[in-house]
Amino acid sequence: MNDTALDLIDSTTYPIHRPGSATYSALVARCRDDLADRSACLLPGFVTEEARVRMVAEVDRAAPSAFPCRNAHNVYLEEHDGAFPPDHPRRRLQATDLDSVAFDQMRPTDGLHQLYSWDPLLSFIADVLNKEHYYRMADPFAALTVNVMREGQNHGWHFDESEATTTLMVQAPEEGGAFEYAPNVRPEEGGSYDTVERVLRGSYPDVRTLAVKPGTLILFVGYHSMHQVTPVKGPVTRYVATLCYKDRPNVCNSPEVQKLFYGRTA
Ligand SMILES: [Fe+2]
Repeated sequence: MNDTALDLIDSTTYPIHRPGSATYSALVARCRDDLADRSACLLPGFVTEEARVRMVAEVDRAAPSAFPCRNAHNVYLEEHDGAFPPDHPRRRLQATDLDSVAFDQMRPTDGLHQLYSWDPLLSFIADVLNKEHYYRMADPFAALTVNVMREGQNHGWHFDESEATTTLMVQAPEEGGAFEYAPNVRPEEGGSYDTVERVLRGSYPDVRTLAVKPGTLILFVGYHSMHQVTPVKGPVTRYVATLCYKDRPNVCNSPEVQKLFYGRTA
């Protein structure tokens, strides 16, 4: 087994490399409960402080060539649909401003690359999400990315396209850059457009903030839960890595999506 990534994590607290153990089973059960209860599961201190510091330095190296994503999108991240009235939540535009480091801008020796390529992590996340088959994404840009957010940058309200996302908080800003979410409000899944509208207006009472310390691995059910990242304040850049997994092998984004998020095509 390729164990290059084992040293990167706190394998005592999180023995994801020992799937037969009682500690592993208890961890999977705890994660499933958290996802069911609050749509999110946090594993604080998942990577060691030494590994995290190394990852920060590696992202620092790659960040100058990150692609600037500046766009206005609806909460579905879908094409404009003129069939809805102009003020409908489906058409309300949210501004996003962040820089994205693509998978191919990281080196195979980088900590994040090693973590993503490590089979026990893939198997663990598949277990938590009850996936019999789960795969790393094949997209040369989107498989593993780092969102880089400097002072004033933000990520507007949206629902994710995939059911669950796996992220790692590599570096937190001094202030701002908060991850806020409204659990289980997707209109197609029992929520309503009225709720979406209230979230956008800031009057929905159940908007929660995930307090995430650097080094935390986060599983989040972003398809059902609307979420945003508030503007970063202060000189410390926010670095969050997204590790992308799919239900099918060999999944790539379309050239259109590649161009939009990474400024180039494969
Ligand atoms: Fe998202």
